[in-house]
Amino acid sequence: MSKTNHFGIAIAGLGTVGSGVAKILSDHQVGDHGLFLKSILERDPEKGPAREWFQKIPEAFVNDQESILQDPEIKVIVETIGGTGFAREFTLEALKRGKHVVTANKDLIATHGAELCAKSQSCNRHYLFEAAVAGAIPVLSLLREYFQTRDILELEGILNGTTNYILSEMETRSLGFEETLKQAQELGFAEQDPTNDIKGYDARYKLVILAYLICGQWISPSEIYLEGIDRLELPDFEYASRMGRSIKLIARMRRVEEKGNNYLQAFVLPMMLPRENVLSKIDGSTNALSLKGRFSEDISLIGKGAGSLPTASAIVSDLNRVARNEKPIPLPSNTELFQLMPFNESFFRHTLRFEVYDEPGIVGMIGKILAESGINIYALEQLPQYHRIGDAERERVIFTITLEPCSEGVLWEALDKINLASFMIQPVNVLRESL
Ligand code: NDP
Ligand code: HSE
Repeated sequence: MSKTNHFGIAIAGLGTVGSGVAKILSDHQVGDHGLFLKSILERDPEKGPAREWFQKIPEAFVNDQESILQDPEIKVIVETIGGTGFAREFTLEALKRGKHVVTANKDLIATHGAELCAKSQSCNRHYLFEAAVAGAIPVLSLLREYFQTRDILELEGILNGTTNYILSEMETRSLGFEETLKQAQELGFAEQDPTNDIKGYDARYKLVILAYLICGQWISPSEIYLEGIDRLELPDFEYASRMGRSIKLIARMRRVEEKGNNYLQAFVLPMMLPRENVLSKIDGSTNALSLKGRFSEDISLIGKGAGSLPTASAIVSDLNRVARNEKPIPLPSNTELFQLMPFNESFFRHTLRFEVYDEPGIVGMIGKILAESGINIYALEQLPQYHRIGDAERERVIFTITLEPCSEGVLWEALDKINLASFMIQPVNVLRESL
């Protein structure tokens, strides 16, 4: 495998993404920089996608990191192991030992990005992660370029293919959440443990990385308000459709300049989007981002957000970048300090789904509590098909109220009281729409 004066690559973790990188590197001429696959670090080469490669090029396989770190021909390591434990230790050591590192590991970057980027700078090595956000869509490169002029003011994205697939199926095929999730797992769209996707953690990791490239500041993932998609039910989609809306899991950030302070509004939420919003039309496992620039105005990016080859294509593009330019690009660093806007201060148009034991006076009581908080009702709907009779001692009813815009803080002041009422079968489900 060795080629003098060429650019040796080691892949650590030959799973879904790592094997895609191996395929692109071995099938195609990837630039004029002599990139070649020298080594593969894998625990069990007889398992999964590694097996095929072990049969083809057994001499490339190693099972100890030292043989990669000590090899002077290996200039760059592709870390496709995943996780925040061994991958972090290994990346820090690789940078220290003079290797460039390219990765798709969004969990690691979102949680330890500040440390890893600082290490790469002090070691004068590249640490590149285009593949970590929106797979094949080159959004991080674009943001790196635009950072110089502090151009991007807002970003709204569908950053998780699994949840977008589930939401699209629920909307178009009128299937329940559990049934759709099971189907997505059978088809291989969703993982056996789908928590990271359906609870929104994955989209939040990606938003942390995007926010860093837009503002030059690392935010801790736990600081970003998050709701997943697992509380959505078919009546939400039916109501949204009657209102001319789609429901999407949206990761959003916006720079807000207020009274001389720089705020960053950031959240991940299932949201109702009007049909004229380009993101409302993104179906299946596709990813998409809408950016709003001070100078560039509106930019939309749509493409494959995951999968072996689409993700690997972004890694290979980073590999070419490293091979083209031995000197790492300076990383964004903030000159203005952004404060995260408390979620309670965000304004939305809220839609509330109630599931109640029917009795007289419910709407009256809810209306009174909302009015006491100064909240005005925009629309109210209770359809005969949402009466569920006979399956319980008391008749159950679902009804929906859309409110005039108000802040989260004001809304929850009212909802905390409403949720205590004895007729409530479950807490109110809240869906939001941006203003
Ligand atoms: P896989 O689980 O398919 O692959 C990871 C591979 O690394 C496995 O073969 C695993 O082996 C191996 N591995 C784990 N620990 C070690 C270790 N200590 N030493 C050597 N090898 C090890 O994951 P993916 O390829 O799906 O994901 C890789 C990364 O890419 C993750 O960070 C993920 O978040 C990210 N990513 C994935 C996308 C996708 O579409 N799959 C899209 C975008 C990003 P074993 O099976 O024995 O544990
Ligand atoms: N029957 C209730 C009321 C409406 O009168 O408020 C509950 O759906």
